[in-house]
Amino acid sequence: MLSVKTLFGIGFLVTSRVAAVVAQTGSCQLNTAASNHRPASSMTQPIKYLGQEEAQHIDEELFSEYGFSVDQLMELAGLSCATAVTRAYPLTSLVKASPSVLVICGPGNNGGDGLVCARHLKLFGYEPFIFYPKRPNKPLFQGLATQCEKMEIPFLSDMPEASLIDEAYNLVVDAIFGFSFKGAVREPFGSILDVLKNTTVPLASIDIPSGWDVEQGSADGLQPDTLISLTAPKKSASLFRGRYHFLGGRFVPPSLERKYQLNLPKYPDTDCVLKL
Ligand SMILES: *[C@@H]1O[C@H](CO)[C@@H](O)[C@H](O)[C@H]1NC(C)=O
Repeated sequence: MLSVKTLFGIGFLVTSRVAAVVAQTGSCQLNTAASNHRPASSMTQPIKYLGQEEAQHIDEELFSEYGFSVDQLMELAGLSCATAVTRAYPLTSLVKASPSVLVICGPGNNGGDGLVCARHLKLFGYEPFIFYPKRPNKPLFQGLATQCEKMEIPFLSDMPEASLIDEAYNLVVDAIFGFSFKGAVREPFGSILDVLKNTTVPLASIDIPSGWDVEQGSADGLQPDTLISLTAPKKSASLFRGRYHFLGGRFVPPSLERKYQLNLPKYPDTDCVLKL
């Protein structure tokens, strides 16, 4: 009994120390020595590309069965996205005078990922600007927007024209629609996507290139330079033709990964993104 208590005590101390380190550095690095081992079989199978329904089931299960909250996973997803941006477009590689990034956020959870991404990009030394035309009236999203305002990230009142985006920004983060998108694109997002089709600066899409069918893609849709697949790639990711495909969202419990046979590759060290 004593030894169990002692173990608990040590476990608690280690946990809070890791939490303190994470809080201090603001980095996505976690001490994951214990979570690094996985069955050898999952390494030999190719990573699974999820259908839309399957992606939705996994999402629901993370909340209902596994006890996660939306803002928790959104924080990790957004941090992965900001980290992927730093890998694909390091500060030293940017061609504009300022390290400006335009982050366009949609009305749902993909937009929330974008807000978190913008906040971390600011902490990483970039100068994000946010366009967030449809803000849901929910505390989660209001909080994320407030955090960005307090981080002195400007919110644009209008969508800039394509030529202005090319002039002013090093890249655009597309956080408009995610894996639950279906059907037709409503305004103002149709016009926004039309502008993005005319820009030449690199586009980094979060989870799904916005406007794409989650499984079938879109022949005349956006053609992002970077795709950051969250949790696991979706079927349309096989049609991605850009330079950088990252996997992010390093939070999938092994038992959930096994259940859906995700065959996720092993993230290096303590990284929160992996280049596929
Ligand atoms: C995109 O470019 C085409 C060709 O230059 C132009 O006709 C169209 O109006 C542009 N659309 C937008 C939304 O900028």
